[in-house]
Amino acid sequence: MTDEELIAAARVAALKAYAPYSRFSVGCAIESVDGEVVTGANMENACYRLGLCAEQSALTAAAHTFGLNRVARIAIAGGDGSGGELEGEGAVTPCGGCRQAILEAAQLGGRDIEILCASGDGSTVERHRLSSLIPHGFGPASLKDAG
Ligand code: THU
Repeated sequence: MTDEELIAAARVAALKAYAPYSRFSVGCAIESVDGEVVTGANMENACYRLGLCAEQSALTAAAHTFGLNRVARIAIAGGDGSGGELEGEGAVTPCGGCRQAILEAAQLGGRDIEILCASGDGSTVERHRLSSLIPHGFGPASLKDAG
């Protein structure tokens, strides 16, 4: 899948967000090393702190479909999903919690996962590697000295 196609999948996924409180729809598309793609969207809750981010929702799908250790590339897009198409000009980067969740997949697979951060309208794209978004992170490898 091209970068543009993976971003398009994230933008479509965002339209399935359940985000009545923030009204900020986020979609995430994850590609495996074999080219399989799964998606997810944010899902909020009346008990605000229980809301689930798009990345974590997509990572769950990835774990069930091809395994966390096979995650190669991730696209994220967010903005106003109230119309027929996702809108908004600002690129959406993963929150701190999602960076930590992606780190788990990255260390399991031994890969510096590529992350495409897109605006809602898809016109702005930032390309990052996880290592630049969460340098010196604490991951499964950090537990090597546990008893
Ligand atoms: N959100 C995500 O889904 N992913 C992120 O990385 C940043 C934030 C969601 C959470 C909440 O439902 C809404 O965006 C506003 O914060």
